[in-house]
Amino acid sequence: MVTVATTTEPVGEPRVAISPDTAKRLSGLGCTVKIQTGAGLRSHFSDTAYREAGADVVDTADAAASGANLLLQVTRPPPELTSQLAADGGVVAMLEPYATGPELDGLVGAGRLLFSMEFMPRTTRAQAMDVLSSQANLAGYKAVVDASSLFEQALPMMMTAAGTVPAARVFVMGAGVAGLQAIATARRLGAIVTATDVRPATKEQVASLGAKFIAVENEEFLAAQTAAGYAKPMSEDYQRQQAELVANHVKSQDIVVTTAQIPGRQAPRLISREMVESMKPGSVIVDLAATTGGNCELTQAGETVDHNGVRIVGPKNLPGTVSVNASTLYAKNLLTFIQLMIEQDADALKIDWEDDIIQGTLIARDGQIVHANLLPKQENGNA
Ligand code: NAI
Repeated sequence: MVTVATTTEPVGEPRVAISPDTAKRLSGLGCTVKIQTGAGLRSHFSDTAYREAGADVVDTADAAASGANLLLQVTRPPPELTSQLAADGGVVAMLEPYATGPELDGLVGAGRLLFSMEFMPRTTRAQAMDVLSSQANLAGYKAVVDASSLFEQALPMMMTAAGTVPAARVFVMGAGVAGLQAIATARRLGAIVTATDVRPATKEQVASLGAKFIAVENEEFLAAQTAAGYAKPMSEDYQRQQAELVANHVKSQDIVVTTAQIPGRQAPRLISREMVESMKPGSVIVDLAATTGGNCELTQAGETVDHNGVRIVGPKNLPGTVSVNASTLYAKNLLTFIQLMIEQDADALKIDWEDDIIQGTLIARDGQIVHANLLPKQENGNA
């Protein structure tokens, strides 16, 4: 029998990697499912709900991980836990593969398979396993909801007998998964929405959500997308032109939501101190790139900074604030992924090492880093 386990995440991470729903599906596949007691509580999944789904609820993290074939987590588990897995077992989690250092080395050294969900290929087949999308979508929604609750004004225009309340102006920077959901949410709340991105493909997507697209649309812009669908780092000249455009626009905005990211790099700096100082007191900036360096110069990860009446929010884990949805979707992403390795009533994992989804996500095997993105450049030839 294949055993799939999860343990309680650290403080600050309210999500859980197995939901009662996915526990039930795994039991149906003939797996043993082990859950550390209380692991689901911060997503309002009780031990009873897991037991009813056929899972074994165990007292400690060690009891859950011991002998398991797969350990499913949200964040990096400790190496000591990982070394208790079956010898050919593996970890599936958001392992923050670019945040290298002793902690990742320890995890690699434990010698088990390490699958990093952030590296999921962006293909149609992998869409249902894409944790970055499922979580970013919720973050984009929550960024607008949080901004609107801090903003001491209404978002929609209201015509009342006592006078007209103007619609708020919301500017979304970065129109990827989080940005598009932020646009849609702000539109639903009745705001006047504008958005920018460096990938030309986003122009139509922004317009289709009823927002106005604003960008420096030169030749560099027309080529600014990688084959993987991500943004490329832009030239200094482009960034200067972009900064001028943004500086003029930002002055008149009430709420700015920034979501711009370049995988594996520091987030692009899009809002300077001067731009913040040009905004009206009472305005709100929510910076979804807070943990990768911030899109705004004044962002502090995990804090809300008040700069001359402009609030700059730097959330560390917005999906975790909608933990019920975030855990449900994350657990479903992981279930879909591990089903590539688990056959009905099997006794062991069956892994197709040639599968592009396996190859794309596997970062370590037998105590060695194996992923091209993490190997020194001369070994893999990648830029
Ligand atoms: P992300 O989180 O890496 O970046 C967010 C956004 O910031 C991107 O749209 C990026 O172009 C933008 N950005 C980067 N630098 C910028 C700058 N200097 N100024 C303004 N914007 C900047 O990207 P995300 O949201 O994870 O995905 C990007 C795209 O990938 C999606 O919109 C989609 O088209 C594609 N995708 C495909 C999937 C699939 O086929 N399975 C799954 C998920 C996404």
